[in-house]
Amino acid sequence: MAIAERDCVLHSWSVQSDWDAPTVVGGRGARLHLADGREILDLSSLAECSNLGHQHPRLVEAIRAQAERLCFVTNAWGAEPRAQLAQALLERSGFAGGRVYFTLGGADANENAVKIARQASRRPRGAVIARDRSYHGASHMAMALSGDSRTRDQVDPAAFNIHHVPPPYAYRCPFGSTDADTCGERAAQAVADGIDGLGPEHVAAVIMEPNAGTNGIVAPDNYWPALRRHTAQREVLLIADEVMSAFGRCGEWFAWQRHGEAGRPDLMTLAKGLTGAALPLGAVVLSAQVAARIEHEMLYTGLTYCGHPLACAAGLAALAAYAEDDLIARSRRLGVELLAQLQRLQARHAVIGDVRGGHGLFAVIELVADRATRAMPAPWPQSPPALRALVDAAMAEGVSLAIRGNLILLAPPLVIAEDELADALAVIDRLLSRFFPA
Ligand SMILES: Cc1ncc(COP(=O)(O)O)c(C=O)c1O
Repeated sequence: MAIAERDCVLHSWSVQSDWDAPTVVGGRGARLHLADGREILDLSSLAECSNLGHQHPRLVEAIRAQAERLCFVTNAWGAEPRAQLAQALLERSGFAGGRVYFTLGGADANENAVKIARQASRRPRGAVIARDRSYHGASHMAMALSGDSRTRDQVDPAAFNIHHVPPPYAYRCPFGSTDADTCGERAAQAVADGIDGLGPEHVAAVIMEPNAGTNGIVAPDNYWPALRRHTAQREVLLIADEVMSAFGRCGEWFAWQRHGEAGRPDLMTLAKGLTGAALPLGAVVLSAQVAARIEHEMLYTGLTYCGHPLACAAGLAALAAYAEDDLIARSRRLGVELLAQLQRLQARHAVIGDVRGGHGLFAVIELVADRATRAMPAPWPQSPPALRALVDAAMAEGVSLAIRGNLILLAPPLVIAEDELADALAVIDRLLSRFFPA
């Protein structure tokens, strides 16, 4: 007799005995097909990763074609799709003369970015500055980089020489300022102060998410360029964790590009949208300067499957799909409209304290117990029961929503039809009235 999945698989970020998720058997565009015959509109791109929607025909075909040619060759040897994808990423990001190290996902991309930054800065155990309310992955060191209250007790950042500073969270500014610009400026200054406090000669890197993150923070516009200035002045490498924010999620190929050259990091990490999530793949992209510093040294790192040809072929097809379907510009345009729609919702529902986003198809609805005092409806990171009930009701109506604490994170596939997005927002509007009556 077959054992049910809930009785034999360990599921991430779940209490095993509570796990009760549907089984997905197929998909198309922004829709998922469930084993029980239902169709679900996916408003979170699953884990904010299926930017190209589900079963994009170009991806399926590229994987099939590469599988027939060559499934695997070790990273010690060459592979054509790997070289082509590295070149395409360097071109798209303007990192001419740089190099790409491929990984299997986001957490190991961040771990390797830190290793490479430490090697390139000649500070092999140098300090790394990250921030509170951030997420860089769930492997051990990535957990130490993350400012994640869920895992704070499970890992000791100090053991990895990782130091956290407060985030650029303008709605609840940890520096007490009431306008976004001042909050962004102070948050960037806190990084500068952190570097100065440790001594710039002891700091190998600063790692931050440039825009969107599952923490629900959208940094004020002045934050990232200020961070770039402070780190460059102190000759500390800046790593942009673009695992979630790249590939159109924030309206650009890479979120830092919104700031032009003033936002260019020294290294950036990628995953998720890199293959539209069709196959696991991550990457660390190094600037020419960083690559040059380690060019004649042994690179003490490796992953059996890094630069897997099947995954790289999917990455190449994904890049082609973003370009040919004009999805980056589409996300930028729909992101502006999405934020405007959310502002209309905010005017109708007192429970919405803040809405943010607007740079692409990533937006956050922050719920409050009281708009005037901004009181939390439940202690972070717990989700209020009414919000959990809203999510269940949305699912029953065929819309899947991601939540985090008191936040609803909207990150639909960039291919979502405009009427599908409008329908989903109408469901949210109706359910907010039902579960959070005025
Ligand atoms: C910003 C960011 N960095 C890193 C990660 C970790 O990526 P992965 O789950 O592929 O290890 C995530 C995943 O959500 C992320 O959002």
